[in-house]
Amino acid sequence: MEKINAIITGIGGYVPDYVLNNEELSRMVDTNDEWIMTRVGIKERRILTEEGLGTSYMARKAAKQLLKKTGVDPDTIDAVIVSTSTADYAFPSTASIVIGKLGLKNAFAFDFWAACCGFLYSFDVATSMIQSGRYKRIIVIGADKMSSVVDYKDRSTCPLFGDGAAAVLVEGTTEQNIGAMDSYFRADGKGLPFLHLKAGGSVCPPSHFTVDHRLHYLYQEGRTVFRYAVTSMSDDCALIAERNNLNKDNIRFVVPHQANIRIIEAVAKRLELPMEQVMVNIEHFGNTSAATIPLAIWENEHLLKKGDNLIMTAFGAGFVHGASYYKWAYDGSDFVGK
Ligand SMILES: CC(C)(COP(=O)(O)OP(=O)(O)OC[C@H]1O[C@@H](n2cnc3c(N)ncnc32)[C@H](O)[C@@H]1OP(=O)(O)O)[C@@H](O)C(=O)NCCC(=O)NCCS
Repeated sequence: MEKINAIITGIGGYVPDYVLNNEELSRMVDTNDEWIMTRVGIKERRILTEEGLGTSYMARKAAKQLLKKTGVDPDTIDAVIVSTSTADYAFPSTASIVIGKLGLKNAFAFDFWAACCGFLYSFDVATSMIQSGRYKRIIVIGADKMSSVVDYKDRSTCPLFGDGAAAVLVEGTTEQNIGAMDSYFRADGKGLPFLHLKAGGSVCPPSHFTVDHRLHYLYQEGRTVFRYAVTSMSDDCALIAERNNLNKDNIRFVVPHQANIRIIEAVAKRLELPMEQVMVNIEHFGNTSAATIPLAIWENEHLLKKGDNLIMTAFGAGFVHGASYYKWAYDGSDFVGK
């Protein structure tokens, strides 16, 4: 049997309309545009402000755009995977809600939880499912409503995050040397003390105490996380580049997770790539966790050509980290205006 390769055949995205800029933020906490821009590189972020709307709302919007753009019959979708750390509910899965709202009839659904590496990891899983030959079409969505876990009284974390979602369609092809080529992923468990959400899980269920002590918000020791993120993402990219003979002359873009512009610049430097070859959306979207990488590709789709070599890399709570090599499979310009 011919080997099946997994390729992305379309991408959709969604960000909420509300723009929270640094000026408004500096009226909420003791911060300013200059500090945020020089230390992190974020000017503004999108926030889902409408009451009663969660991550599935954005995921559904992204998937709907994807289905419209690609024109695929929704009844031919085999599975929907939603990568998120901010699920609508503890259960049922956000993916099952998305399937219901999209009216998909022949798909199964599950959520995937790997913090800011969620999209990269779940795309790898979808890749294997397609390569197995058992599934033909899978929608992989990275979506997070980070504003639901951010403490807007904590200046050390509230400038960093935003809300958004993006979805890719993964299909099989017998064309060789295209699509998902290689990946290197690791999790080490060292990150728990430095980046977590203390309450609401099985260790510390919600109570008056947890609410009174603001334990339902994201906690981060930024300096430590920063150090690990720079080292891991740079090393992982270098490893993927070396074992696939990739270098500054044949890499078209690196697509890094967007947590801090200084981390992104360090990764680019390690690969000896100019910033024009790095997809960056942190300035206008902030850190949208599982959505950063697909959102960056969504915004830059028109620049991509069949055969372009991409390295994607991410780092997140756990710690989890990794990099993957993907060879783009269509001319993005074909979708302009769709
Ligand atoms: C969070 C982060 C931006 C903080 O930047 P930093 O350079 O490490 O800053 P520090 O935390 O050391 O704080 C430096 C000073 O700025 C202050 N500060 C923190 N947040 C501030 C803000 N929003 N505005 C103004 N000052 C601020 C601190 O209080 C500290 O003051 P001090 O020196 O008087 O104590 C940075 O550490 C970071 O990006 N970490 C990694 C995040 C990440 O990758 N997360 C991955 C999860 S996906």
